[in-house]
Amino acid sequence: MRRFEGLSVLVSGAAGGFGRSIARAFAAEGAKLLLTDLDEAALEAAAKDIPDTEIATLAGDVSREATAKTLVETAIARFGKLDIAINNAGVVHAYERLSAIDAAEAERVIAIDLMGVFYAMKHQLAAMEARFAREGRGGTIVNVASVAGLKGAPLLSVYAAAKHGVVGLTRSAAAETARRGIRVNAVCPSFARTAMVLGDDADADSEDEKRIVRGIPMRRLAEVEEVVAAVLFAADPANGFMTGTVLPVDGGLSAI
Ligand SMILES: NC(=O)c1ccc[n+]([C@@H]2O[C@H](COP(=O)([O-])OP(=O)(O)OC[C@H]3O[C@@H](n4cnc5c(N)ncnc54)[C@H](O)[C@@H]3O)[C@@H](O)[C@H]2O)c1
Repeated sequence: MRRFEGLSVLVSGAAGGFGRSIARAFAAEGAKLLLTDLDEAALEAAAKDIPDTEIATLAGDVSREATAKTLVETAIARFGKLDIAINNAGVVHAYERLSAIDAAEAERVIAIDLMGVFYAMKHQLAAMEARFAREGRGGTIVNVASVAGLKGAPLLSVYAAAKHGVVGLTRSAAAETARRGIRVNAVCPSFARTAMVLGDDADADSEDEKRIVRGIPMRRLAEVEEVVAAVLFAADPANGFMTGTVLPVDGGLSAI
């Protein structure tokens, strides 16, 4: 029996980076998928790339509450339930000292990375709580935060603030819903080999990569699949007692 057979899974930011690989991994484990992203063309391409799976797509901006509401309604209309939600969509701002960060850029990062997760959780939890009241089954949420949600991140202060906020939402909601059949956890990757970190330059020997890995005990970036494995672990129904957990996947960075 595959780990997520027949479960309905919502993944945001599914057109690229972690999200695309998370979607593929859930599909391989038997899930039905509702995929969302701002980039509609890339979202459709990502969905087409996943074989033999029931998939719905809905493009939208996670920084708008209406998107969160529509996504939950769509999951329920299409699959009859929302078992698992992976709140993964996110952006980063340019590396700048806090004193140089443009206020509009800061607001954009907070709107997508923090408010986006708040809106998503608000509507996902309402649906999961209602299901628990009806059927005695809730659901599971995994938020993709960052090691910048656990420690200061020089030159990424607003991103770090947003991700600390996601950790706060995760822990608080986990405590609120622990007796309603709902688990809420966060995964906190350090730098991984995605467009967010490398841009279009995926060259393993790039100067950017050398600079980034200098502070990581394992002296390398995360592989996308290593982050995906942690997301599926957190979502796995076999992990029934794990809630409010904030799981670093960071080559030892948060250990020092
Ligand atoms: N890559 C890393 O090193 C790293 C490290 C720690 C945490 N993270 C977090 O992991 C998550 C995924 O990052 P990634 O590296 O895969 O990035 P990515 O840029 O490769 O992919 C992010 C996806 O989110 C989508 N997106 C952006 N803004 C959106 C919006 N407003 N509404 C809907 N979708 C939107 C993008 O179109 C893209 O497909 C993010 O939350 C990021 O903060 C990444």
